[in-house]
Amino acid sequence: MKKNTNVKILVVDDEKVHRFMLTSLFREWGWQAAEADDGITAVAAVREGAFDAILMDVRMTAMDGMEALQRINAINPAIPVVIMTAYSSVDSAVEAIKMGAHDYLTKPLDFDRLRQTLEVAMQHKRQGEEGRPDELREAGADTGIIGASKPMRELLDMVVQVAPTEASILITGESGTGKELIASALHNQSLRVNGPLVKVNCAALAENLLESELFGHEKGAFTGADRRREGRFLQADGGTLFLDEIGETAPAMQAKLLRVLQEHEVQRVGGQDTIKVDVRIIAATNRDLEQDVASGRFREDLYYRLNVVVLHMPPLRERHGDIPLLAQHFLKFYAHRNKRQVAGITPECMDLLVRYPWPGNVRELENSIERGVILMRGEYLDVGVMPLALQRWAGENVSAEQPEEPATLKDAERILIVKTLEETGGNRSEAARRLQITRKTLLNKIRNYNIQ
Ligand SMILES: Nc1ncnc2c1ncn2[C@@H]1O[C@H](COP(=O)(O)OP(=O)(O)OP(=O)(O)O)[C@@H](O)[C@H]1O
Ligand SMILES: [Mg+2]
Repeated sequence: MKKNTNVKILVVDDEKVHRFMLTSLFREWGWQAAEADDGITAVAAVREGAFDAILMDVRMTAMDGMEALQRINAINPAIPVVIMTAYSSVDSAVEAIKMGAHDYLTKPLDFDRLRQTLEVAMQHKRQGEEGRPDELREAGADTGIIGASKPMRELLDMVVQVAPTEASILITGESGTGKELIASALHNQSLRVNGPLVKVNCAALAENLLESELFGHEKGAFTGADRRREGRFLQADGGTLFLDEIGETAPAMQAKLLRVLQEHEVQRVGGQDTIKVDVRIIAATNRDLEQDVASGRFREDLYYRLNVVVLHMPPLRERHGDIPLLAQHFLKFYAHRNKRQVAGITPECMDLLVRYPWPGNVRELENSIERGVILMRGEYLDVGVMPLALQRWAGENVSAEQPEEPATLKDAERILIVKTLEETGGNRSEAARRLQITRKTLLNKIRNYNIQ
């Protein structure tokens, strides 16, 4: 960025030395700087003047940063607020981001990072003023994420909020709930979108292989290492690294990951040099990491590093409302892919899809629909082409509250005959009399409809 003296930053910190250091730094960068020594003064300053960004300490005596953040947001939500926090209280940074802070920085401040963060924040503000990137607000729009239920809308709102920050993100949730999909959405809506998104499945490799996969190795580091290789961290430089199934990593690996996250540098296996990397981490797991921390299976310090922001993917059974949307979406997708004419899903089949508990979540739903589209004969997807597990479940879980509803005249006739026979205790002559048909006609119909 060129020197730009139109830029005005408000520094909020109760330590005079800090304020002095920061305002001097900003002036050196050609920016204007104002200062406030507590939250109250900061709020008053925002009421009176326009700022392009605010850099604020969380912990201050008279009105802390959190409260000040809320008030500033209420007065002028367009001003990006960047929070400063100590490493030891990263959880308050999470709070701050949830409350609308643009980003957070940990102390001691890294000046390059500080400048980059503030520039990005101001760029956002300008774009906001030009009325542009609220396209980000329409989360899901171009992400391919389907979901209109309340839990999904809340989740997508969180994605929009945290994607453009540098915060590490931990995505939790059962298998098949869409963790990887969300990771891609986070990268695509981040400021690193033009950088690479590199995905590593930590469960897929043995411990020693994972280490060289992640950090690279020198030639001759181990048998078979016939040349030097860059690891995934370096490949992801300037972008995002997605560490899938992080809960499966061994303790030694966890220690190495923690080091990279803290130092922002890696060391190849068998190598001596440390190499700087600029990578944002998104991790995912279907394990209960908190419990793993309690049982000593997962390092607590790494856990706290990763879970600055946690996005929890709700299981599909807790958002039935999304099932028809997802089902229609997959139906269209697989009909197109398999070049099949498909008109829709029968009501019985949709009823089953909505009631089934989906232990494999969205992936199981997707697979079921794909299979159905391949097997179906008519134009409508019906229960008959659903996987056996679903059909069996449907057999055992006939919806009790739903009496059989006739769809055709024949259905209606069959249901009426069954009902009358039940009422007459199986007395066919009496049933025929009530139905005003001959006994012979009734017997014919019983045979035709295969009534027991
Ligand atoms: N909300 C959604 N909208 C559209 N497709 C979805 C949605 N959620 C999941 N899917 C699809 O379901 C499949 C499984 O999703 P994904 O691989 O992201 O799950 P996961 O949580 O990473 O599972 P695992 O823990 O087993 O790795 C993918 O094909 C994905 O595209
Ligand atoms: Mg996955």
